[in-house]
Amino acid sequence: MKPVILDVDTGLDDACALLLAARHPELDLKAVTCVGGNVGLDEVVVNTLTVLDAAGRGDVPVARGAALPLLQPVRAAPHVHGKDGLGDLDWPKSSRTPDPRHAVELLRDVLLEAADSGELITLIPLAPMTNIALLLRTYPQAARGLREIVFMGGAAGIGNATASAEFNIWTDPEAAAVVLAACGELGVPVTMYGLDVFYNVPITLAEAGALGGSTSADLARQLIERRSELYRAEAATIGDGGAVCAVIDPDGLTTREFPLRVELSGSWSRGRTIVDTRGWTGDLSSDPHGSTPAVVKVATAVDGRRYADLWL
Ligand code: BDR
Ligand code: CA
Repeated sequence: MKPVILDVDTGLDDACALLLAARHPELDLKAVTCVGGNVGLDEVVVNTLTVLDAAGRGDVPVARGAALPLLQPVRAAPHVHGKDGLGDLDWPKSSRTPDPRHAVELLRDVLLEAADSGELITLIPLAPMTNIALLLRTYPQAARGLREIVFMGGAAGIGNATASAEFNIWTDPEAAAVVLAACGELGVPVTMYGLDVFYNVPITLAEAGALGGSTSADLARQLIERRSELYRAEAATIGDGGAVCAVIDPDGLTTREFPLRVELSGSWSRGRTIVDTRGWTGDLSSDPHGSTPAVVKVATAVDGRRYADLWL
């Protein structure tokens, strides 16, 4: 089994990712950490516990993390996820309380334990990377417990929050820059599951309608139905769920290594991921811009049918 941690801002598609990570027999979900993003942190925590309850995984520790990005206010997305972040479904909310530790402390504890046992962890950030930046700056030694990071965020092509920037990176660009720099310094391999593939794992309403027979399948069906409604379409992508598929079945994803930076200024481009498709991964220390970018595996194509079947 592959040990994984998810960092989420649940979120309809984070919920799709959580259900898969919680239920797939090849994954060992060690912890889930929460951050403000699609909705405020309080709602994110309740939504996350609610989804794990539906998956029958009350055993997985869930911790509260950063409510706000490092430098700017959070800008929620009710038009994409509903007012409560979980599509305002008529679904009972969890009344459980989260782990008493801060997300950064839970991440540190689980990662240091992994470093000691040698069972290294794949970290899957599906939200603004505030918690991960705080972790790597506060407890860099915790990176010894990481096998790799596979994150949803960014794009080589166009954005969604703005014409040029993707929501997770745009919400906390400084955090993303810190994480990429730290991973470069600490030698942690990184894969970017960005907008170039994010929309390409659709589940049709007919496929969703056939889901049932368990609480988690009932919730999965309702998530896709509500997401289709919000997108006014006959199908809905599993979004963040695709990044979990990429960890279970990496062969369904095509990637290429490129230097990657985050734009921190720019009138119209703040939060954009700059993928250097010139393919220059040689001596980056002599880069004319004066800083060394991280070299990241960027997802360029996905086998959508294969990942849809995996999720279903
Ligand atoms: C990302 O932003 C959020 O709305 C989704 O949950 C996903 O993580 C897509 O840009
Ligand atoms: Ca998300």
